[in-house]
Order: sequence, then structure tokens, then C-alpha cells
Amino acid sequence: MASYDVIIIGAGPGGYVSAIRCAQLGLKTAVVEGRETLGGTCLNVGCIPSKALLHASHLLHEAEHNFADMGLKGKSPSVDWDQMKKYKDDVIGQNTGGIEFLFKKNKIDWLKGWGSIPAVGKVKVGDEVHEAKNIIVASGSVPTALPGVEVDNDKGIVVDSTGALSLPKIPKKMVVIGAGVIGLELGSVYARLGAEVTVVEYMDFITPGMDGEVQRQFQKILGKQGFTFILGAAVSGVEASKTKAKVNYKLKKDDSEHSLDADVVLVATGRKPFTDGLGLAELGVEFTPRGQIKTDSHWATNVPGIYAIGDAIVGPMLAHKAEDEGMAVAEVLAGKHGHVNYNVIPGVIYTTPEVASVGKTEQQLKEEGRAIKVGKFSFMGNARAKAVHQGEGFVKLIVDKDTDRVLGCHIIGPGAGDLIHEICVAMEFGASAQDIALTCHAHPTFSEAVREAALACGDGAIHA
Ligand code: NAI
Repeated sequence: MASYDVIIIGAGPGGYVSAIRCAQLGLKTAVVEGRETLGGTCLNVGCIPSKALLHASHLLHEAEHNFADMGLKGKSPSVDWDQMKKYKDDVIGQNTGGIEFLFKKNKIDWLKGWGSIPAVGKVKVGDEVHEAKNIIVASGSVPTALPGVEVDNDKGIVVDSTGALSLPKIPKKMVVIGAGVIGLELGSVYARLGAEVTVVEYMDFITPGMDGEVQRQFQKILGKQGFTFILGAAVSGVEASKTKAKVNYKLKKDDSEHSLDADVVLVATGRKPFTDGLGLAELGVEFTPRGQIKTDSHWATNVPGIYAIGDAIVGPMLAHKAEDEGMAVAEVLAGKHGHVNYNVIPGVIYTTPEVASVGKTEQQLKEEGRAIKVGKFSFMGNARAKAVHQGEGFVKLIVDKDTDRVLGCHIIGPGAGDLIHEICVAMEFGASAQDIALTCHAHPTFSEAVREAALACGDGAIHA
């Protein structure tokens, strides 16, 4: 048995970042992790492996669609799927190994196994019980089950995001249930690798919660890339055989029943907090009706000494939100003033083009009755975007009509996931559109489109 200042349960982006910050602040820290490698869902079966496959399949798409135009002639590459998966696994290995190195560097103990909290101040891992002044639950999330749909990642016919990252072969026909982030990112991978991808979505639009104009443009672009969308459709069940599956769905508008055949069905209908087996309910820890651990503004649960962060608590299920909470709670435990500004948490979809947003949407602000100005700039007016076949999309900046203060930004276009951070910084500093417009932006860069959107909030964009 060992004794610690902090034991963190879960080594995903929330847990491992929190551990590093705790150690940097002088706290004796251990992390409990049952997976064979550190990094949680994000590094092992989420963000990182999907980015590797998105990158490889994007390059194939470029070779097939844009190389000849640029004078790069020759046979398009063929796909060695096993090698692509090996590349993805190497990327995972480099990243998870990196966390292990950081743990050693910061003298963080990795308690290998699945942890539970038998009593306040105690964490059980295997047969051993360790002591901790404080415990941080960073146990993450798992895919939600859809009634009538049985996921079996080993068989590779009806899969969730984990299974979709390691399919035995590239499907000819893939049905994706849910037009959210996971469905569209992984759908993109397989569409580029040659699959016919149909997305069945319950809502009448894709990517619920995003700005309406971005949703429509995104759907149009993905349609051009070969996606078929069936919107306003509730999936009622999936019948799977050894080699194929049939997806049954009902159209909301007339209750008519339909079905689709597929080689692979990806179920991407959301995720839920993973808190099974931790013993939290037994200790009296309170949960929301959606199964999230309830915390106060310092990530403390109602049970003294037990804190929680990341996907297991309220808020967007995003690695960077978990990381920020991980750092902030470490600071709280070290007697400092940890803080997370939940109004400025960017969201990114890593398709091509990328989609990124921060702050409020036009719809939200209109519902609030707020007087706003919208500055929009198309990437067609951006020289760099046109030079790299990425002129589709736009930057939409929303500011307060009277004060010019930035309230939100929604980007669909090249490098959107990086461009958005200019706006995050602007929002953190309470900047106005004019502040951005007066800032010199290098030419030719994609970021000029952000400045042009800011100019459009004032006297007008130059290249529009
Ligand atoms: P999501 O919540 O983004 O989307 C799920 C979609 O499924 C929704 O559009 C919903 O209306 C639809 N749906 C639900 N039940 C349905 C039914 N019976 N029939 C048809 N459609 C149905 O969930 P997703 O994509 O599974 O992602 C889970 C979480 O992981 C999200 O919070 C997401 O933000 C996060 N994530 C973030 C990534 C990123 O930041 N790039 C990447 C991957 C995941």
C-alpha cells in the first residue's frame, strides 16, 4: 500500500494532464489505468488514431482528385489497408509511449489495473488498497447503446468508433447511424477509401448544435464528396448476419419504414459517462439524471475528497475540455485558483474541409434577443485556399452590434481547427472585431480569411 496526495482514476487527456500538473505543483501523484497503454480513449481508440486515418485517406483523395490538375501525373496509389492500420497503430504507440515518458519524468506512479473507491481516501487496484488525500475521477465515457442494435467490434459488421478504426477490410457499403462528429469523421475516412457511405440521422440537419449555415454548407460539401444523407430518420434496429447487415429506420415525416443494406454499420449516436464499478453511488456521490457525476465550480463532488473531471461530468465531451479541467483541479488541490472558461471552448471536426466553432451560434444569440452583427468571408476570396483546392467554406464571425465584442465564430474551410484559436484568444481578451481587423495577418495565409470576416463586421472585407 502506498500513500499519495492525489490518486487520479483514468489516464485519458483529463487524467494524465491533471497528473502532470499535480506533480509539477509538488503533489505526490498516482494514476490508475486499466488499459495496457496510457492516454485513454483519445490516444488509443479515438482522436489520435482517427486523425492518422483521416490524414492518410486525405492524401489518397488528393492523389485521386487534385494531383493531375497540378501536373502530378501517374497512377494513383492503391490502398494497403493493413499497412494503413499499422501506420495508425505506430502513431498510437508513439503518443501513448510519450505519456509514459512524461509520467516517469514527473515521477508519477502508474497503478496498473481498474480502480475503485472502497471508502473516502482509499483507492483499490487489484488486491491492493492505496491511500490518497484526494481522488480525482477522470474515467471518461463509452459509446451509448442504441436499442435494437447490437455492436460487436470483433465481428466487424456492426461497430462503434473503436471497431471502425480497425475494420478487417474496407467496406463497399457503409451505413453510419448519427451525423455527429464521429460519424462524419470516420465516414469521411471510408468514403475516401472507396466506400459508399450513407448517413442516417434522427434530426433534420447534420451536426446538431452547430451554426445552421455551417451545417448546410458542410452537408453540401460532404454530399459532393460522395456522402448520402437520410435525415429526419430514426433507426429502429439493425439485423446482422455473418457478412452483412440491414439497417431499419423510420422517417419522422410520415412514419414510413425503410431499410438499407450494408457491409458495415457504424453506430455513432453519442457517448455516455463511464463510471461503472467505481463504487461512487455506494459512497453517496450524486449524479445528474444523464449519469454525469455532479460537481461544483471546483470540480468537487458532494463527497469530500472526491473530485471529477472530463467526459464523466457535465459539459462537452472533448479532450481539451477535460485537459483544462484536469489542470484547473490540480491547481485547486495545490491551493491555487484553477479556472476554466466554459464560454470559450472550441469544437473541431477534422474532416476536409475542417469545421470549427467557438462561442455562440447566430441562432442561440437571436433566441437570446441579442443585437448582433455578422461578418462573413468566403474562402473563395482567399488566395492561399484557392491555390490548394480548398476554396470551399467560409469564416463567420459574430459580434455584439453595439460594442463590436466577439461573441462567436464558425469556420468551415482549410485549417479551421487551427484558425479558430485566434478567435479563442480574442474572446479571452474581450477583443472586438476591429481589434482583429487591425491586426496584421501574413499573406498568403488561411488566417487572412479570419481578418476579412472581422473587416466585414466593420467597413467591409477587401477581397469579397
Ligand atoms: P454526437 O452527439 O456528436 O452525434 C450523435 C448523432 O446521432 C446526433 O446527431 C443524434 O441526433 C444522432 N442519433 C441519435 N440517435 C439516433 C437514432 N436512433 N437514429 C438516427 N440518428 C440518431 O455523438 P458522436 O458523434 O457519437 O460523438 C460522441 C462524443 O464524442 C461527442 O460529444 C463528440 O463531441 C465527441 N467527439 C469529438 C470529436 C472531436 O472533437 N473532433 C471526435 C469524436 C468524438
